[in-house]
Amino acid sequence: MFFGPLAILTRLSTLGAAKLHVHDRSFVPDQILRVTAQNITQGCLSRYSVLVNGTFPGPELRFQEGQTRWIRVYNDMSDKNLTMHWHGLSMAAYPFSDGTPQASQASINPFPWPIPPAHYFDYELHFESDQAGTYFYHSHVGFQGVSCSGPLIIEERTRPPYDYDGERTVYLSDFFNETDTEISEGLAANPFVWSGETNAVLINGMGVSNTLAQSDISSCPLATIAVQPGKKYRFRFIGATALSFVSLAFEGHNLSVIEADGGYTKSVNTSFMQVGPGQRYSALLTTKTCDELQGQRRFWIQTETRERPTLYRGYALLVYSDECDIQVPTTPPLTLPNTTLGWLDYELRPLAPNDFPSLNEVTRRVTITVQMIVNGTITWTENGLPWLWTFPSKPYLVNLYEHDESGIPNYTSAVANGGMDDRTRAFPAKVGEVLEIVIQNTGATSGGLDVHSFHAHGAHVYDVGAGNGTYDAYANEERLRGTHPVKRDTTVLYRYETKTNPGADGGWRAWRLRITEPGVWMIHCHTLQHMIMGMQTVWVFGDTADILKLPKPQVEGYLNYGGGECSLIELSVGCQCLRQVHMAT
Ligand SMILES: *[C@@H]1O[C@H](CO)[C@@H](O)[C@H](O)[C@H]1NC(C)=O
Ligand SMILES: *[C@@H]1O[C@H](CO)[C@@H](O)[C@H](O)[C@H]1NC(C)=O
Ligand SMILES: *[C@@H]1O[C@H](CO)[C@@H](O)[C@H](O)[C@H]1NC(C)=O
Ligand SMILES: *[C@@H]1O[C@H](CO)[C@@H](O)[C@H](O)[C@H]1NC(C)=O
Ligand SMILES: *[C@@H]1O[C@H](CO)[C@@H](O)[C@H](O)[C@H]1NC(C)=O
Ligand SMILES: *[C@@H]1O[C@H](CO)[C@@H](O)[C@H](O)[C@H]1NC(C)=O
Ligand SMILES: *[C@@H]1O[C@H](CO)[C@@H](O)[C@H](O)[C@H]1NC(C)=O
Ligand SMILES: *[C@@H]1O[C@H](CO)[C@@H](O)[C@H](O)[C@H]1NC(C)=O
Ligand SMILES: *[C@@H]1O[C@H](CO)[C@@H](O)[C@H](O)[C@H]1NC(C)=O
Ligand SMILES: *[C@@H]1O[C@H](CO)[C@@H](O)[C@H](O)[C@H]1NC(C)=O
Repeated sequence: MFFGPLAILTRLSTLGAAKLHVHDRSFVPDQILRVTAQNITQGCLSRYSVLVNGTFPGPELRFQEGQTRWIRVYNDMSDKNLTMHWHGLSMAAYPFSDGTPQASQASINPFPWPIPPAHYFDYELHFESDQAGTYFYHSHVGFQGVSCSGPLIIEERTRPPYDYDGERTVYLSDFFNETDTEISEGLAANPFVWSGETNAVLINGMGVSNTLAQSDISSCPLATIAVQPGKKYRFRFIGATALSFVSLAFEGHNLSVIEADGGYTKSVNTSFMQVGPGQRYSALLTTKTCDELQGQRRFWIQTETRERPTLYRGYALLVYSDECDIQVPTTPPLTLPNTTLGWLDYELRPLAPNDFPSLNEVTRRVTITVQMIVNGTITWTENGLPWLWTFPSKPYLVNLYEHDESGIPNYTSAVANGGMDDRTRAFPAKVGEVLEIVIQNTGATSGGLDVHSFHAHGAHVYDVGAGNGTYDAYANEERLRGTHPVKRDTTVLYRYETKTNPGADGGWRAWRLRITEPGVWMIHCHTLQHMIMGMQTVWVFGDTADILKLPKPQVEGYLNYGGGECSLIELSVGCQCLRQVHMAT
């Protein structure tokens, strides 16, 4: 609901040149605060409190010196008046906006201020060029200020006179277990009724009421202020207490005061702070380095009230980030096993049925015998031949498309040769076959054995296990009884000893594979060095007709070295020429 001035007369000091601000529905303020009365947990108890934007402390407002800003404050309460006071700011430019009922807000006719229930007021604030510092805002009506308040920070336009890495706020306030109304009525009553002493000094809204039983206190959260090691922080202390005059200190840390009530000071070292209601200070705190912390991450912040018949003592925590903990431990905290041969083999089960082919479904077994040849150079061979970067001169798939028989593996001769066609060095298979592929580790010509992580392209394989020595299909089938192999694309060919006789079988890995999709795929060790040294095989699934299922025009771009020539226009409408690097422009 709109209330208040349609026009606010400003700059009383220069009445002659008074400016008129029209605040109709279209006016957009720079900040909005909404004030409600509601139950909130404070001091670890529920209290019916007046709050800004539903929180305590209210949201931090941050402006820059030299700015002029409008803040719209809504009174969303049904039965309470409200004003907002900008504590510490010089309001010379806009005295109507000082937020004091009866003083600035109630005396200017025809506006019946303070802000009545369900109305708002637009405060115009000007931050003088020497006002950078720490402030707060609070209601100036009754006892509302005990909870209707929040930090207000004015930043400098350029750099602050002190260097620091970050800011932290220590917002001090009182918690009284009686409501604002009970307290203010009692204080105005005859006979007089005292509010009682503070039930808690809250730090950033958190703390523990002194009426709680020791057994209930353990569940009360305390404020934590997070810092990083080896940094300098500007701590802004805001004395938003109603009654308490607070002494406070940080365990293990000293402070250098640099600001008092919105004015910078020369720095003064101190081991504690003393903050009265309404006072603000800034002090620099240098955090400890990882070395200095020696593993300690939490330090107490302790508050005590002074000058009252009772002493309230409260706590918060300065908590260091755990980055110091991630230094390399000097002794390993864990004992990891040596290579566990066959880790998870025969143990993993598929979550859903996976059509695993049994041994009698296998139509053909292909064994890839791998061996390292040391003859001046070092080469990894499969069935006696290494994979070569230079062979064949044209990719298998291209040969297939071009019906270039010289580059297409001969299935008959491959089957007769244990699976590999010597001429093309490829392993052909027909769609519908169920292959069992055994990768057999053998001793190098120098006698060594190595570990390989074998990877299959194109389709996932059923992993049927691994073992020492030579693969024995029937023994392994026994071992598979009661298990259910999963589909994998990379499994390990172990070594069961580090040395054996040259060419002697030194462990195997076996897969099964239903040939369903035609294509040209690789099966290779995924150790990059081994790949480069020759440990790769090429498999051609399906015959030429199967593979040419894809109509040629769609693959055109793949058939020439460097890709086909696409125009930009074709590319944008989905041309298949994916090798855009060589695109004609
Ligand atoms: C307070 O709440 C109002 C309404 O939710 C929101 O528009 C405004 O930005 C909030 N103010 C601050 C300073 O966060
Ligand atoms: C606040 O809490 C009091 C006591 O538990 C309860 O009587 C009251 O209805 C609550 N008020 C609101 C607005 O929730
Ligand atoms: C609000 O303030 C007006 C003007 O001072 C006063 O007449 C009225 O009684 C107050 N209302 C409440 C709920 O305090
Ligand atoms: C409020 O605090 C006073 C002490 O300040 C205590 O005597 C009283 O029992 C408390 N009331 C409640 C409801 O906790
Ligand atoms: C803090 O200052 C006091 C007084 O100068 C000094 O005794 C103490 O060692 C200092 N503490 C730290 C943590 O620097
Ligand atoms: C204040 O403390 C800082 C850091 O502990 C120190 O470097 C500086 O010399 C002290 N200044 C005075 C005036 O004691
Ligand atoms: C791993 O093997 C080494 C060398 O054989 C042995 O000294 C070590 O105790 C083994 N570690 C574990 C955890 O078994
Ligand atoms: C070494 O062995 C590899 C693999 O068998 C072979 O390709 C190569 O020609 C051999 N080199 C020499 C110098 O014998
Ligand atoms: C494939 O190899 C077999 C046996 O070596 C041979 O008889 C046949 O002619 C070859 N086919 C082609 C197309 O080269
Ligand atoms: C693997 O088999 C060889 C030859 O029988 C044997 O010497 C070796 O101890 C076996 N290794 C393991 C780990 O079983």
